[in-house]
Amino acid sequence: MDSQNDLYSDLSNHIKPSPIRALMPFIRQPGVIGFAGGLPAPETFPVEEIQEITANVLAEEPGSALQYGPTTGDPRLRQILAERFSQKMGMDLDSEQVIVTTGSQQALYLASMIHVNKGDNVAIESPTFTGGLSAFDAFHANFVPIEMDNDGLRTDILEEWLQAGNRLKMLYTIPDFQNPTGVTLSLERRKKLVELANSYNFIIMEDAPYTDLRYSGEHVPSIYSLDDTGHTYFCGSFSKVFAPIRLGWLIGPKQAIGRMNIAKQPVDTCSPMLTQAIVYYFLAQKMLDPQIEKIVKFYQKRRNAMLSVLDEVMPEGVTWTKPEGGMFVWITVPEHVDVQKLFHAAIDQKVAFVTGSAFFIEGAVQSNTLRVNFVSETEEQIEVGIKRLADVIRDML
Ligand SMILES: Cc1ncc(COP(=O)(O)O)c(C=O)c1O
Repeated sequence: MDSQNDLYSDLSNHIKPSPIRALMPFIRQPGVIGFAGGLPAPETFPVEEIQEITANVLAEEPGSALQYGPTTGDPRLRQILAERFSQKMGMDLDSEQVIVTTGSQQALYLASMIHVNKGDNVAIESPTFTGGLSAFDAFHANFVPIEMDNDGLRTDILEEWLQAGNRLKMLYTIPDFQNPTGVTLSLERRKKLVELANSYNFIIMEDAPYTDLRYSGEHVPSIYSLDDTGHTYFCGSFSKVFAPIRLGWLIGPKQAIGRMNIAKQPVDTCSPMLTQAIVYYFLAQKMLDPQIEKIVKFYQKRRNAMLSVLDEVMPEGVTWTKPEGGMFVWITVPEHVDVQKLFHAAIDQKVAFVTGSAFFIEGAVQSNTLRVNFVSETEEQIEVGIKRLADVIRDML
């Protein structure tokens, strides 16, 4: 087939591979201290609980757990998610406002599928999560990159752009401990976004997979909970607080959930029922909150270790974010440093990161940036790895 390129679709010709996956052959070398990936630490997976629940589910309800199920999800899981977020957000959510998805990645894809026409403007934080970019890019969105600062995306820039008469279809934001920067969107800006979405009639896609992983500071209310105008979708994931067994959810207006139900049918018919049953019982047996507490304690130490060694060893002129949660720190080096070269020099010294350029769209790249995760390595390895990275940066200054 490779000799017959005209047999491939425009979509397949258009979709680009993940720039992060392309770095994998370098990153996955033995002995390399890995700050590159975005994978949760496997030590946090609740293996015994999953074993026990799975055994029970297979003994008690094999006929439904191994069967096809409703496209919108196991009704019990939808119900318990509606109850959980009603309580967390101080709202009265109905299970029909919830769709279970095969990872929150699929929620992004479905939202794009039901809303984005070729050329529609989709505003994004710049930089942002590459999986979000590819979900919107698949439907040929026209990206509008919005700069960020330590309070998250610059709503003043967005407002100015809207005031100039531009039409926006959707805004994609990761308000809590953003991937890749670790930055949290301030309450004031969340309120501003709701106001803008209402005035200019666009959708806010709030992607919140890291929200429960807070190590310091105060919880900031979700955009969804601030919006009584129905312009916001809230999506989340079990990947970071349980395991990446491919389950997420999206909460939104009932009518939109109905559209997503239809859009999801040709994608995967339904998310795996066994996985949904496992997560449902984990929630029903009140195991999720203690699990989150455990992970928070585990990652908090690693975040603290990374921030303190950065302080200790980074040369002058290098700056970094101070995330209150999540998995990532974003480092900015002086502009003349070539971060591609830095990447290979760091690999030679057996330490890996992701070059920041991976998280920008073309034309908006800040190439003097890099992302490191602080969850994959032990505190001791974090110290060793960041010292090596600081030495490599110093050599290039
Ligand atoms: C911001 C953000 N959204 C969504 C996802 C996808 O998560 P899931 O595993 O639920 O598909 C990730 C995963 O890294 C992420 O960082």
